[in-house]
Amino acid sequence: MKDDLKKLSKRAHEAIDAVVDFDALEKVRVEFLGRKSALTDLRKGLKDLDVAQKKSFGQLFNEVKDAIEKQFDYKERQLERKKWDHIKDSERIDVTEPVLHVNTYAAGHLHPNTLVQKTFEDIASHMGFTIEDGPELESDFYNFEALNIPPSHPARDMQDTFYIDGHDDWVMRSHPSNMQVRLMRKYGAPVRIAYPGKNFRSEATDASHEHTFFQYEALIVDKHISMGHLKGIVKHMLEQLFNKEVKVRLRPSYFPFTEPSVELDMQCLICGGDGCSVCSRTGWLEMMGAGLIHPNVMRASDLDPSKWQGVAFAFGLTRMVMMRYGIEDIRHLMSGDVRFLKQF
Ligand code: FA5
Repeated sequence: MKDDLKKLSKRAHEAIDAVVDFDALEKVRVEFLGRKSALTDLRKGLKDLDVAQKKSFGQLFNEVKDAIEKQFDYKERQLERKKWDHIKDSERIDVTEPVLHVNTYAAGHLHPNTLVQKTFEDIASHMGFTIEDGPELESDFYNFEALNIPPSHPARDMQDTFYIDGHDDWVMRSHPSNMQVRLMRKYGAPVRIAYPGKNFRSEATDASHEHTFFQYEALIVDKHISMGHLKGIVKHMLEQLFNKEVKVRLRPSYFPFTEPSVELDMQCLICGGDGCSVCSRTGWLEMMGAGLIHPNVMRASDLDPSKWQGVAFAFGLTRMVMMRYGIEDIRHLMSGDVRFLKQF
């Protein structure tokens, strides 16, 4: 019996040694340690031995069984380690790897209005302009009266203004010109400031008119500042923005807060001047209002018009965005349509 036990022990150790996976290990366990195993059969033979044999065989039996069980545990731990090593290697995540599938978790980005506004801000600050922000809910005074537009002046009808229910003297600003007097009062002269912003008009909308749109306005007050400076500055800004020469024309116009006043048209970049719905089939689109600051506005700003001169100009920023990106309808920009916005 002892020989049988030793042979069994040798076979069991060899079998466990040869095991390479959990399935094989389980088979070996059933074969050598299970209820119907050869080891169990040998133990059943114990009852037929006398006391002395029982003692020495029993001791050997326990030693053999212990050794098999220990080797079995060792093998199990080895397989377990192998399993985790494999998981570690096969499921390794390289956190430094660049994300290629950008669509899976699309990152947010700036609105095209903001992109062009920022570009303009860079251009203006390189030319020595300070950048300012202003309120969208405004008093009638700063939006109109301070700009030489008294109540019931016909020029009020030039811009279809949103008034606030129950507050006759409040408006949603119809232009960033609401900042002119405020800024000149604040900074005095000489001064050079740009103040982009959103404005609101109760307009019938079409391909180039929105009720909510952005302008980029700026003013310069100095000793000798003229329409010649205005033309040069505006031309430089446009070339910087579009990175190419664009065709523009200035024509006389009227604003109560500038004298003389001009408007600037730009050859439509959507159709290249052939005529389309954006430029009302004319090939040209109105892009800017400007002029020399009116003496009454200077006075309202506590500046002596006999000592100081000023220019002010406001680009239709949203229209610039259209020209820059080739957008054929201004209404896309405020539509909130993600399919449209994703393109920028
Ligand atoms: C004004 O708003 C004047 N405050 C501009 C100004 C500033 C004149 C400083 C003199 C001195 P106007 O209403 O023309 O002017 O608007 C200026 C520009 O904004 C236009 O040339 C046009 O490009 C753009 N714009 C006007 N209305 C709309 C609209 N509904 N939708 C989109 N862009 C518009």
